[in-house]
Amino acid sequence: MKIEFAEFAIPRGGVVVAGVLDDKQLTPAAVELDRRVGGAIARALKGGRFQGRNGDRLDLVGAGDGSYERIVLIGLGKAKERDALKAQDLGGNLVAHLNGGGVVKATVLFDTLSEAPLPAAPAAARLAYGARLRAYRFDKYRTKEKEDQKPTLVELAIAVAGAKAAEEAFQPLDRVADGVYFTRDLVSEPANVIYPATLADAARTIADEGVEIEVLGVPEMRRLGMGSLLGVGQGSEHEPRLVVMQWRGAANRSEPPVAFVGKGVTFDTGGISIKPATGMEEMKWDMGGAGTVIGLMKALAGRKARVNAVGIAGLVENMPSGNAQRPGDIVKSMSGQTIEVINTDAEGRLVLADALWYCQDRFKPKFMIDLATLTGAIVIALGHENAGLFANSDELAERIAAAGRATGERCWRLPLGEAYDKAIVSDVADMKNVGDRAAGSIIAAQFLQRFVNDVPWAHLDIAGMAWAKKDSPTCPKGATAFGVQLLNQLVQEYYEGK
Ligand code: BES
Ligand code: MN
Ligand code: ZN
Repeated sequence: MKIEFAEFAIPRGGVVVAGVLDDKQLTPAAVELDRRVGGAIARALKGGRFQGRNGDRLDLVGAGDGSYERIVLIGLGKAKERDALKAQDLGGNLVAHLNGGGVVKATVLFDTLSEAPLPAAPAAARLAYGARLRAYRFDKYRTKEKEDQKPTLVELAIAVAGAKAAEEAFQPLDRVADGVYFTRDLVSEPANVIYPATLADAARTIADEGVEIEVLGVPEMRRLGMGSLLGVGQGSEHEPRLVVMQWRGAANRSEPPVAFVGKGVTFDTGGISIKPATGMEEMKWDMGGAGTVIGLMKALAGRKARVNAVGIAGLVENMPSGNAQRPGDIVKSMSGQTIEVINTDAEGRLVLADALWYCQDRFKPKFMIDLATLTGAIVIALGHENAGLFANSDELAERIAAAGRATGERCWRLPLGEAYDKAIVSDVADMKNVGDRAAGSIIAAQFLQRFVNDVPWAHLDIAGMAWAKKDSPTCPKGATAFGVQLLNQLVQEYYEGK
């Protein structure tokens, strides 16, 4: 789908989209359009349910003398409530609607609303961004899709006063969308295609954007003493990898970076503590945290963010085999701390233990944020509405939560504390990798905290957010790339040199 901005003008035909405010109040564009179709819009609004509330929609087919194939009326609600998120959602919903209607090309008449908190040009850019996010498809393995099942929309034109400014505002958003698409692709791929070596190869492609990439193999990780990560991967034919990505966009290239660390379990069978068969296929997206870190680095580099950023992806496949790690095994992490592996299915924390330690040890970052599909318990607690947020820094936690509200990628903070930490005391090693059933997500976070060495740190448990079973305005069902937009916003708002 092509997205174009054009200086505001009302086309003489085709498919046009116009806004209506609360209480059926036509926007200036809709007024002019109504005049051209001999009052057909005003007549259509007389009866019926369409009130112009945000999200309302009404299609007029063949209005006037039939020159307009279709007029799509969009409810905008109150002008003073039209923020960036509403514009994005509108763009996304519109794409789905137009595809559902078999529309090939449409023009959005983007009004300048004086009461709106966002000027028209940046708001139009947000609409375009939402449209692009919703237009994502992962269809490379569909060979028998019928024509009428495929999306039809090939061009979305946005007519707005200040088209050039809108276009400029869209450019960085378009690069963020590139990052989101990349993450969604990686997370959607099955585990016979994406395993540590191939995921590392995919990460290497963002070198094109100016990101420096290093990939550590087993010998290097062994030399570094990463017994915790390596223990998880030892049961698989596919050897682990650690991907290190660096983007230096700050004026001072040696300024301490911000750092992001992702859990990349390319498939999680549970290992010897094997998972039940039902639903196990979902564990192809247990690399969602790593996928997000890779897409985030692509987004930051793509829009040339003025920040130094490090991305680390710990990649393993968790399999049962003759060489797999056993319950009761004791491993030694890079930090020197020993871990009794009670349950081989609590593997993400074992991977992150070494990835986090390595990150702070090598880069001395301003902060580290890890993302992980870490616990089923977080889905029980927060469902699919919020990621679990844990932090040793109130400032960092508040900034992440604010970035979540700004992007719609919401996070809810849960507590950490010494009392929870007691749950992972082991009789034979420095710690064990699980507690008992209570507070499973918090205890997983307590485990991670033992490997951050007091660096400002936050952990996002995205187990409920990395994959969606239903469409949302800006994301078709499937891989969401949760976290790319959130962390891009965090960087942009608080950590970029102006
Ligand atoms: N990858 C899973 C967590 C998960 C479960 C993500 C469901 C998405 C949906 C993780 O490795 C895991 O297996 N966690 C265990 C931990 C338990 C053994 C302490 C869990 O949540 O059951
Ligand atoms: Mn597991
Ligand atoms: Zn897992």
